[in-house]
Amino acid sequence: MIQKNGQHFLYQQVIDLIKAMQTSGTLRPGDKLPSLRKLSGQLGVSIPTVKQAYVELERIGKVEARPKSGYFLKNASITMASPKRSSFVRRPVPVRCQTLIEEVYDAVHSPSVIPLGVAHPVMASPPDKMLARIMRRMLAQAGSKVMAYGPMDGYAPLKRQIAQRYLEQGVVVDQQDIIVTNGAQEALAIAIQSVAEAGDIIAVESPTYFGILELIETLGMMALEIPICSENGICLDDLQTSLDLHNVKACVFSSLINNPTGSCMPDHKRRRLVQIVESKGIVLIEDDVYGELHFCEEEVLPLQAYSTCGEVITCSSFSKTAAPSYRIGWIVTNKYEQKAKSLKRAFSCSSSLLNQMVLTEYVRSGDFIRNIKRLRQILQQNKERMLALINEKFPAKTCVSDPQGGGVLWVELPPGFDATEWFRLSVKEGISITPGILFSATGKYKRCARISFGLPWSDDVENAVNTLAALAHQLINKNRLKTA
Ligand SMILES: Cc1ncc(COP(=O)(O)O)c(C=O)c1O
Repeated sequence: MIQKNGQHFLYQQVIDLIKAMQTSGTLRPGDKLPSLRKLSGQLGVSIPTVKQAYVELERIGKVEARPKSGYFLKNASITMASPKRSSFVRRPVPVRCQTLIEEVYDAVHSPSVIPLGVAHPVMASPPDKMLARIMRRMLAQAGSKVMAYGPMDGYAPLKRQIAQRYLEQGVVVDQQDIIVTNGAQEALAIAIQSVAEAGDIIAVESPTYFGILELIETLGMMALEIPICSENGICLDDLQTSLDLHNVKACVFSSLINNPTGSCMPDHKRRRLVQIVESKGIVLIEDDVYGELHFCEEEVLPLQAYSTCGEVITCSSFSKTAAPSYRIGWIVTNKYEQKAKSLKRAFSCSSSLLNQMVLTEYVRSGDFIRNIKRLRQILQQNKERMLALINEKFPAKTCVSDPQGGGVLWVELPPGFDATEWFRLSVKEGISITPGILFSATGKYKRCARISFGLPWSDDVENAVNTLAALAHQLINKNRLKTA
């Protein structure tokens, strides 16, 4: 209790109280502390006293102040290192990953499984009720009109909303340059085929999202891996060397928020990245599906913002910010508009008109941005909790990334660990993760895995992480016995 005439300063007593709540588990890493007004009311002390306590807790590294969001309990005990940049293979290779991808998808879509293998962060705060309300209204108002084919390159009001959202971020995009697609995956397929053909070399981050590798495999192209570090993304020296050595047709990068590590390239590095690629006349395809879900204090701009000669094609979608089932994404085509349009027409004619109309209303209403802001906070909180659990329970010498956005993190277990076996054992226990080997074309990352923190936090999620930890210990012990 706060004692007005006690021996300690009042603000110190507030600090002791927060620490006691942390020790008892009432407040956990990532939790938001009560607002200044609320706690001052509850404890009967002034707002400046609570503020002084929070500032002191921030100074000693116990809490973190997030602009316009409040104060959050930090994970001060995290001692794990980040995975280091992988060794560099300077040659393009064909990709063969489809069999394992099928197995991972089967695991994710099994209804009885806790899907920590899926990158679906919007589940942490789904806007389903808002979207359902808009859809009912659309159906009632527009009737059979919504059942028609939509325009081939997209519903103009949606394209306008997307262009306006870019403008709010300070990026000028002409809505005529936007084509609406069936998710970011179709956008990527169109982008790659607009600029490259079978046999061409495509530079990708390493590790990178396996959907990009699967596309390269399907299109008969070759992947050239550029290493990233889990702290701040692509190594630019390696990129420069690779582009000097090989006749690369296009780069496909998620530089804003990488999947699987969650790394975010700082602004100055992304500007330099665009300069390097454009100066070589190479097309830079940016996969920006997580761009809106960054945890940075300032707005971060897509690579498109730094383009000076129109060689950047941006692919994105509403899958991570509204709902993946709508299958609505887009491509900012720049110079490649005509080719991209003809590919869209040939592949899928148009995207669901009803879904485009619903999303237009959702973005226009402002609920979209409000939900994104809430989602970022929830994801950040989940990340802290997940990191704390991994830190406490996973085997010694595990490294883990500290994502700056999105809903997944990347773990690297000790040398010799087989994360594909870990994935298969986990599925038997009703949990899915994504084995690391999928994120490379050169068989790297055998001891790594991607784990999602994008589900609503619950006892089930905590138990699943504990089970993953127990299975990892079990595998390590089995290996030790084998080699003893
Ligand atoms: C990095 C990345 N790019 C693209 C996609 C595909 O997105 P969409 O569902 O919009 O097709 C995903 C989906 O998980 C992703 O993680």
